[in-house]
Amino acid sequence: MTINPVFTDATPIAAPDAGRQFLDDALAGLTAPRKFLSAKYFYDKAGSDLFEAITRQPEYYPTRTELGILDVQGASIAAALPARANLVEFGSGSTAKVRRLMAHRPDLAGYVPVDVSADFLRSEAEALGRDFPHLSITPVAADFTRAFTLPEGLAGPVAGFFPGSTIGNFEPPQAARLLAHFGRVLGPEATLIIGVDLVKDRAVLDAAYDDAAGVTAAFNRNLLVRLSHELGAEIDIDAFAHRAFFDVEASRIEMHLVSLKAQTLRLANRRIAFAEGETIHTENSYKYTVEGFRDLAREAGWIAGEVWTDPDLLFSIHALTRN
Ligand code: SAH
Ligand code: AVI
Repeated sequence: MTINPVFTDATPIAAPDAGRQFLDDALAGLTAPRKFLSAKYFYDKAGSDLFEAITRQPEYYPTRTELGILDVQGASIAAALPARANLVEFGSGSTAKVRRLMAHRPDLAGYVPVDVSADFLRSEAEALGRDFPHLSITPVAADFTRAFTLPEGLAGPVAGFFPGSTIGNFEPPQAARLLAHFGRVLGPEATLIIGVDLVKDRAVLDAAYDDAAGVTAAFNRNLLVRLSHELGAEIDIDAFAHRAFFDVEASRIEMHLVSLKAQTLRLANRRIAFAEGETIHTENSYKYTVEGFRDLAREAGWIAGEVWTDPDLLFSIHALTRN
């Protein structure tokens, strides 16, 4: 097993001011006219574990559907990767999906999982290394939206993998900028394999983001737990409820934390007042049509290639190239 953890100074999570950044972002979001927090702060170790628990809920169809596409079409999807590629996975999480690609591509030269959830990243990379002992694995703990450099000395072509429809957590203009940024990180010859959730019946979407067991609610409230544990915020966490709904016009799920009463939260000597019913907007999850996503990819400078879906057209996987 070859595991070379890379924690460069372009790696905010490892930087000494990572907590400062979280505080600055939290203060900026909570004092905005419409309160918000960035979805990337869901993911500490507990948040990653909660996300994995979400993926096992019967209502949350995206993960099992994308895994199903990879099971059925894995050979053809993996064939879109160049020979002896270094595969960079953005927001790698559990690595369950990349294993499906690796099964078809024993020639992969290396694997570079990139994720903000540093502890989860490390344990997943170690588990992968035990199962693929000859693969060079270089985990990078970084915010993929920022400038970061790929590990030095990668021999051979570079390709990207961005499953899970994490692209949907960005507003379309930001999503286009992120895709263009990935193009710059991966280089002019790159291929990107990306998973994109599709528009569907509203009831299916509403249920997927408000499961009966309350796991998505716990994931949402983990943001408040982090504010309390990591930033010393004084918050009555039980006085905030989970709310998620599909906005048909915007084609997105919105997640909020709703204040159940008029209350004041304390953060870094600031008092932040909430009216009863006021919310913190914590996440968007955009749902695309296949054509809508291909247009977005083209806008970001990619050539839209093959598309794979499940028979019910719930989810899609796209191959994008640069030239
Ligand atoms: N790829 C996995 C996990 C999706 S959950 C799957 O398809 O199931 C989203 C993942 O992206 C989490 O692991 C989270 O920690 C990571 N993530 C979210 N925002 C990020 C950011 N800005 N930079 C790096 N990783 C991020
Ligand atoms: C990671 N991301 C694509 C998930 C989604 O479906 O938007 C995060 C999530 N939020 C609530 N449930 C899952």
